[in-house]
Amino acid sequence: MDFSGQTVIVIGGTSGINRGIAEAFAASGAKLAVASRSQEKVDDTVAALKAAGAADAIGVAFDVRDPDAVAEGLKQFHDAFGDFDVLVSGAAGNFPALAAEMSINAFKTVIDIDLMGTIHVMKGAYPFLKRPGASIINISAPQSYLPYEGQAHVCAAKAGVDQITRTLSMEWGVEGIRVNSVVPGFIEGTEGAKRLAPTPDAGEALRRDVPLGRWGQPQDVANACLFLSSDMASYISGTVLAVDGALYQRGSGKFGQMMGDMLRSMKKG
Ligand code: COA
Ligand code: NAP
Repeated sequence: MDFSGQTVIVIGGTSGINRGIAEAFAASGAKLAVASRSQEKVDDTVAALKAAGAADAIGVAFDVRDPDAVAEGLKQFHDAFGDFDVLVSGAAGNFPALAAEMSINAFKTVIDIDLMGTIHVMKGAYPFLKRPGASIINISAPQSYLPYEGQAHVCAAKAGVDQITRTLSMEWGVEGIRVNSVVPGFIEGTEGAKRLAPTPDAGEALRRDVPLGRWGQPQDVANACLFLSSDMASYISGTVLAVDGALYQRGSGKFGQMMGDMLRSMKKG
């Protein structure tokens, strides 16, 4: 796919799945802007995106929980690159914890990053979106529609993210802006997957839950984002696209129960 001449913003684009998405757009010739909390990760990513073929690449460090910092960072991107063709919002935090065991602040932290962060990013970007034609992609998770024990905070946050997607696809659709969510399955080698499946046994249980029988790769998710942002998807908006090897069809499966059992045994121990 050719994204040359286009401006692509990836929030939380400095590691894992989101960095894979940013690199795929860079290899397709776009101008890239990335943001996350760590200036070091931002600088490293910007250099990698230029090496991957980006027409240009810039980045700033901010925390998506701070709406003013998000708005200021996005303005800097607009000053440098002009209107946004593609906005990917993917910053998130996760840890496994039973609801009864985690503090209110722990629950709120994930809501603040995943859910509030999403609306901060979308509202901050709103004045700078190309009209008509912009593509927004919110990075969601299977927890949006599958309940996993030990993930009440993430389930609540990501369900909210997908409802923002659906609602704003209507509110902003009238301006020619498309809004979709992409739901990665469990993606090999990423921080999110390591936190949920920290041992080889847990990793294998997770893999067995996937009908296609393999872990997802960052490129699988990136391919879906390229497609959704291309002209081939010009009539697709308000959708929640699972890129999960059919994991959803099996539900939370044995893996979800195993995680609950593991957390309960840690509590006893
Ligand atoms: N179990 C229970 N509670 C936990 C926890 C865990 N494993 N990890 C953190 N918390 C709690 C903390 O105790 C704190 O609550 P308290 O103030 O009542 O003690 C609250 O969560 C916030 O923790 P803190 O470390 O101050 O948050 P932070 O803003 O520095 O970091 C996190 C946010 C916790 C989400 C951190 O893991 C992070 O930065 N994650 C980003 C990377 C990531 O999660 N990647 C996977 C994406 S799917
Ligand atoms: P990751 O490598 O930890 O990526 C998270 C990114 O968000 C990093 O760039 C991180 O950089 C940034 N970030 C975190 N908190 C932030 C904050 N408060 N403000 C700004 N930036 C912040 O995680 P990942 O596993 O690849 O997950 C990426 C996305 O995919 C997430 O939305 C996640 O929910 C989703 N997902 C992952 C999986 C999986 O298998 N991994 C499955 C389903 C969905 P800094 O640390 O520099 O801030």
